[in-house]
Amino acid sequence: MNFDLKTLELPAATTEKCDLLVILVPEGFKPGQDALSVLVAHALKCGDLEAKAGKHLHLYQAPAVSARRVVLLGAGNGSARAVRQALQAIAASFKLPQVKRAVVCFAGEAQPDSVCAAVQAVADASYVYTTTKPKAEARTLNRVVVGVAHAQAVREAFAQGVGLVEGVEFAREWGNRPANHATPSLLAEAARSLGRQPGIQCKVHGPAEVARLGMGAFMAVAQGSEEPLRLIELRYSGASKTEAPVVLVGKGITFDAGGISIKPAAEMDEMKFDMCGAASVLGVFRALGELQPAINVVGLIPACENMPDGRAVKPGDVVTSMSGQTIEILNTDAEGRLVLCDVLTYAARFKPAAVVDIATLTGACVIALGAVRSGLFANNDALASALSAAGDAAQDLCWRMPLDEDYAEGLKSNFADMGNVAGRAGGSITAAKFLQRFVGEFPWAHLDIAGSAWKGGAAKGATGRPVGLLVHYLLGRAQQLSAKDAVKKPAPSVPTRRNVRTKPT
Ligand code: BES
Ligand code: MN
Ligand code: ZN
Repeated sequence: MNFDLKTLELPAATTEKCDLLVILVPEGFKPGQDALSVLVAHALKCGDLEAKAGKHLHLYQAPAVSARRVVLLGAGNGSARAVRQALQAIAASFKLPQVKRAVVCFAGEAQPDSVCAAVQAVADASYVYTTTKPKAEARTLNRVVVGVAHAQAVREAFAQGVGLVEGVEFAREWGNRPANHATPSLLAEAARSLGRQPGIQCKVHGPAEVARLGMGAFMAVAQGSEEPLRLIELRYSGASKTEAPVVLVGKGITFDAGGISIKPAAEMDEMKFDMCGAASVLGVFRALGELQPAINVVGLIPACENMPDGRAVKPGDVVTSMSGQTIEILNTDAEGRLVLCDVLTYAARFKPAAVVDIATLTGACVIALGAVRSGLFANNDALASALSAAGDAAQDLCWRMPLDEDYAEGLKSNFADMGNVAGRAGGSITAAKFLQRFVGEFPWAHLDIAGSAWKGGAAKGATGRPVGLLVHYLLGRAQQLSAKDAVKKPAPSVPTRRNVRTKPT
């Protein structure tokens, strides 16, 4: 889908040719003399429209207006949150087969982050999964113009929104693919395709290399499947080599049947989403490729299936992780922590500034936080605050959970350094405590996205979360780094690289 930003106020919007014109009407709207202003003012006065976020009025072939369909849409206080909420309320309009070209026009001043939110909300509303669906049902909306009073003032936020949308949609599409269309090898191919973007390199390791690295826990999960495992390694280099990278680790279980500790049949299909952590890492790299921020990022994805089989790992088996610590696998369905622990050990090689793992790790996290906030665990307060603030800014929320050592009590084993499960109580926390045992001397955070990565029921599908949170966090870091650089070398005579570049043309 193509997005354009344009300086466009209500008088010009009146004659804008498109299939759908949406006017975002904020509280305290000041009408002009043009036809649209008059319409809005009238509707407000008569009580047929309210400026409250999401309230709206549909018009068809309104006199003196070129667009066939017009929606007057309350935008509340005009904040990013309100604009998003408003556009969500009319989501169905962006999916109409007759709507190919839409214009979303801000009446009054537009905040930069509200413009970013508008781009995301329109993309979200019009997204249609395509990989295994008939072409005829694909998205029809193909051009969206965002109209604001001063385009120049919001250009950077707009570009950020567009880059973010690319990343979120990439994550959603891969998350939604059925497991037979998203095998570990296919996931690796997707990562390789990202390696064609500027600044991105991709390496893929197979079973032999993973065995050589001594990743006994990861291999134990993969051994019950006919599909060979993949360890995907992505690098984005936007800053000098001396700048320590942020390492993102994404759980890539392309199907979680539970292994020998097999899951019940009901809703087992949803375990195709167990690679949404991996999909979010791919999505972040897609966005980095678009936005080209001045920062270094490494993405690591352990990808495999968790299946029952004659060769599958059995409850009670003891394996040796890459760290040398032994693990008694008491429940083969607690496989996420097993693939992640070895990659957390591996992450230390990159001398990271921070490591963030992202995983659909526990059903217990769904019970604790539902679908609204992802679970955030961290061994470092500054990293936790930065991630949580990024979540707020991106409207991709998370909530910090505890890591008291007392929670690790249940991981004790009579036959190994630790068991892989610790009873039902506090299940998302004990899982995080397990991971923490493999974390080196670096700031680390763990995002449990079991509740936020996909929706069940009639709206079943991947959400693309937490790509927004992660990209906001990384762009914030890029900004910090460049501010630090500016202090180091004052008053550059030539313009330095900008934090966020738009796509080279
Ligand atoms: N992928 C699941 C977690 C999950 C379950 C996510 C339901 C979303 C919805 C994970 O591998 C798993 O099976 N976890 C177990 C852990 C338990 C055996 C300690 C769980 O949460 O039940
Ligand atoms: Mn499982
Ligand atoms: Zn799982």
